[in-house]
Amino acid sequence: MTFTVAIDGPAAAGKGTISKAVAAHFGFAHLDTGLLYRAVGAKVLAGEAAIAAAEALDPADLENDDLRTPAVAQAASEVAVIPQVRAALVAFQQNFARREGGAVLDGRDIGTVICPHADAKLFVTASADCRAMRRFEELTAKGMDIAFETVLVDVKERDARDRSRATAPLVPADDAVLLDTSDLTIDDAVAQAIAIIEAARR
Ligand code: CDP
Repeated sequence: MTFTVAIDGPAAAGKGTISKAVAAHFGFAHLDTGLLYRAVGAKVLAGEAAIAAAEALDPADLENDDLRTPAVAQAASEVAVIPQVRAALVAFQQNFARREGGAVLDGRDIGTVICPHADAKLFVTASADCRAMRRFEELTAKGMDIAFETVLVDVKERDARDRSRATAPLVPADDAVLLDTSDLTIDDAVAQAIAIIEAARR
């Protein structure tokens, strides 16, 4: 059995939390595709060339806690503009999506470019302030010393770059179900996502 769930949305919208929870609920595998771009961004910050880094990316490169910083997030959205970087990462994502037993992929272009025929598509959003506050709380809980304003600027800058790029911009697929989590608890957001996927399974 293959079943692909595509979860897209802007920075820090809660895609990761929702994706992990729905994957656990249905017993599907989960791929955070943002980590691929973050891993390439981190290599560029370390002095490598973006396209070569994307072409040589190894799944082991994703197992790195340092990929979660705002500096790496910015570098990720800069390399994500480069068509050859995106192209180098397509096969890995599509193979993951076809995995036996079901798969959840979260990112920006899963429902539009990577898996246009996904069985269920969600576009998760929330207000920029709300997303920045959640990311601020996540980073400070990890011990990072960062100002809320810095996080808000990062989120807004990345959204603008992700939405305006020519290749695979951040845009909801025509057939994606919109889930605005601004006023939802995590449990409510997960419950709504599960209900949307259940409906697609019937
Ligand atoms: O966790 P957060 O939503 O802040 O970001 P992420 O999902 O880890 O993605 C980091 C950056 O990678 C984004 O700002 C995008 O520029 C890029 N990305 C992308 O272009 N396409 C994807 N499918 C996933 C991420």
